[in-house]
Amino acid sequence: MSDRRMLDGRVAVVSGGGGEIGGGIARRFAAEGAAVVVCDVSLEKAEEVARSIAADNGQAIGVAVDVGDPAQCERAAVLAVQKFGKITTLVNAAAAVTPDGNVEKLDLDAWKRAIDINFTGVFLMCKYTMGHIRAAGGGAVVNIASSHGHFGLPGRSAYCSTKAAIMHFTRVLAIDYGPHNIRANTISPGPIDTERSLRRYGTRENSNRIRGPGQVLGRTGTVEEVASAAAFLASDEAAFITGTDLRVDGGQTAFKGDSLATTL
Ligand SMILES: NC(=O)c1ccc[n+]([C@@H]2O[C@H](COP(=O)([O-])OP(=O)(O)OC[C@H]3O[C@@H](n4cnc5c(N)ncnc54)[C@H](O)[C@@H]3O)[C@@H](O)[C@H]2O)c1
Repeated sequence: MSDRRMLDGRVAVVSGGGGEIGGGIARRFAAEGAAVVVCDVSLEKAEEVARSIAADNGQAIGVAVDVGDPAQCERAAVLAVQKFGKITTLVNAAAAVTPDGNVEKLDLDAWKRAIDINFTGVFLMCKYTMGHIRAAGGGAVVNIASSHGHFGLPGRSAYCSTKAAIMHFTRVLAIDYGPHNIRANTISPGPIDTERSLRRYGTRENSNRIRGPGQVLGRTGTVEEVASAAAFLASDEAAFITGTDLRVDGGQTAFKGDSLATTL
């Protein structure tokens, strides 16, 4: 049997890499052999993830990047190439806290900020890395959307719209870069247990009891389950998959209802 790992020889740039899902993806990619450039608006969080990767004998650097700032996105790509020689893989997982409320209540500046970070940030990170991925001979982009890009939520037009937009943007990215051997896909996570959700619901059991019935599988997902899907899409295992969305949602979007238990 070969000891080759899924992402040996890859260099991955991960935006929002200091966060829960981005951090989980960065760690999984490093465990699969990739060198990882962990980008986050919080340098402290980015460096913490990079340090944890190094502690597990992986390769990573942490870089401060506000994905709303073109110059910082460009600098991240340049640093990645300076440090690791190339870029083969881009993951966009950064997301801002988006404003809630119907359109009358939504503040225009907060709306614009949500679009800038959640959506234009994906465009900018692609804008400054695609040329490097092409120069490396090809690779893969994985953009993190959401099940909320498939269905709406009351008062969350900013978040839901940006997540739907990421999916369509990624389809066109796949069309534009397929000829350059670059695949582009999205992942739509359903409810994932993170430290934030655990703070809200107390325990994983409680989170599952309240949120689990909305999924066919009757539970919430884990960061590791999203990271597995990202590693798959970034790897040659997904060599013929581009322009698609992979729903890592326990069947949330397959099932239109609040609780499967009440309909059985
Ligand atoms: N947690 C879930 O249940 C869930 C479900 C569906 C989709 N998602 C998506 O997964 C992604 C990660 O979510 P998470 O739960 O890990 O959240 P998180 O808050 O832990 O991670 C987001 C990260 O983005 C960073 N960030 C914020 N603004 C930034 C900016 N301007 N530039 C660069 N980085 C910035 C934050 O510092 C944070 O580290 C997001 O795109 C989110 O929309 C999450």
